[in-house]
Amino acid sequence: MGKTIIVSNRLPISLDYKDGKPDFKTSAGGLATGLGSIFKEANNIWIGWPGNYVEDPEVRAEIYLELHEHKMSPVFLTQADIEDFYEGFSNETLWPAFHYFTQHIIYEKRFWEAYVRVNVKFCEAILKKADPDDTIWVHDYQLLLLPQMLREKLPNATIAFFQHIPFPSYEIIRMLPWRKAILEGMCGADLIGFHTYDDMRHFLSSAGRILGLSNESGYMQADSRLINVDAFPMGIDYEKFESAANSTKTQNYVTKFKKLLGDQKLLLSIDRLDYSKGIPQRLRAFDELLKTYPHYHNKVSLIMIVVPSRDTVKKYKELKEEIDTLVGRINSAYSTLNWVPVHYFYRAFPFAELSAFYHMSDIALVTPLRDGMNLVCKEFVASKTDKMGVLILSEMAGASKELQDAVLVNPNDLDAVTTAIYEALNMDEEIQSARMTAMQETIKRYDIFQWVKVFMDRLKIVKEKQAEFQ
Ligand code: G6P
Repeated sequence: MGKTIIVSNRLPISLDYKDGKPDFKTSAGGLATGLGSIFKEANNIWIGWPGNYVEDPEVRAEIYLELHEHKMSPVFLTQADIEDFYEGFSNETLWPAFHYFTQHIIYEKRFWEAYVRVNVKFCEAILKKADPDDTIWVHDYQLLLLPQMLREKLPNATIAFFQHIPFPSYEIIRMLPWRKAILEGMCGADLIGFHTYDDMRHFLSSAGRILGLSNESGYMQADSRLINVDAFPMGIDYEKFESAANSTKTQNYVTKFKKLLGDQKLLLSIDRLDYSKGIPQRLRAFDELLKTYPHYHNKVSLIMIVVPSRDTVKKYKELKEEIDTLVGRINSAYSTLNWVPVHYFYRAFPFAELSAFYHMSDIALVTPLRDGMNLVCKEFVASKTDKMGVLILSEMAGASKELQDAVLVNPNDLDAVTTAIYEALNMDEEIQSARMTAMQETIKRYDIFQWVKVFMDRLKIVKEKQAEFQ
């Protein structure tokens, strides 16, 4: 049995500098937590970009050594790679296309060339570490070409791919001039995973129509190699959120925050800055609520956390301005000396404070226009240890397939979202508790550790089937 190599564009760290020396913090993100049990074992390793431009070779060497201690290995990107591969093809071509924002797609040959170049760079970095019988698990849309590049060099390796964002309909995929190379790249994997059944169906349909690959129950035959495609909805570290919610640290924050906010019903909104999240639409629905039901003035507040992200990309900058303007407009229209309708934070929060926000909020408004899965809604549910509270969830989030007990809404339907907030504010406590309990059971059963296990078990089965087949 060989080792396991995890690969993602971004390593699960954030890199900073302290007194001119590189200093990094390991991130406690869902994926990092789930895969922690794998990449920290034996001689397994995680390969990816440390997230900043590093010019000085000496600093690079230092980062390399530091990360090595934590079982990670960096792939350094140049300024041109960051602009054309990361901001460009990944986030101005694939991201909008895969989230159905076709009007935002930039078709730029230079971006595509950078995408190929950086996927090769990742491939070379992996080949320096990999043995022929290793298992290599590639993550997400920034590295779609990598499975095939690896397959050519390591024909017998076990290669898996998981896509964390949606996979759109063939009608969108066919718009991309590089569609064939992208699909061929993915098909280098033995197992291709998506969050939802719909994403899986879309992929199979594109592979059929563009590559001519037919499938039987999710098994495709490519170059005499069997490939399995399936849905594996990702979970969270349920226990972590549940126990944090009951911890003294979180409860102290809850007491402090409640005192500051006074007697309010609280709506919560947490996202990375992204146009796929539907933040302006959500603000408009809240504005509509205050307009339609003036008796909620002074009684309801929206806590809105927007975590800075990709703010060098034009569309993200524009979105930030739009949100700033909308929040300003709502607050200036309704605020009183002792009430602010929207408490807006453009920054990330430490875990205990986040846990307090989740625990104390009456309603979570999770209304993305499109989202591969969305883990915020699961984190909210896991933090509601008293079972009180309502989740308003977009039908366009992958999580809506599992969380049927949420109040499901079409995020484009302003009236429907406004009505959903009104209903949530008035929901009977017994119903809240019944729905919350049902959602908690689902999320607890299929947590992040189970997700990793089910995926890895399936990978083993696929390899056994391939062996039988030959
Ligand atoms: C999404 C993507 C990830 C990405 C993350 C943060 O969750 O699926 O691949 O790492 O957003 O975005 P960033 O561009 O900062 O890596």
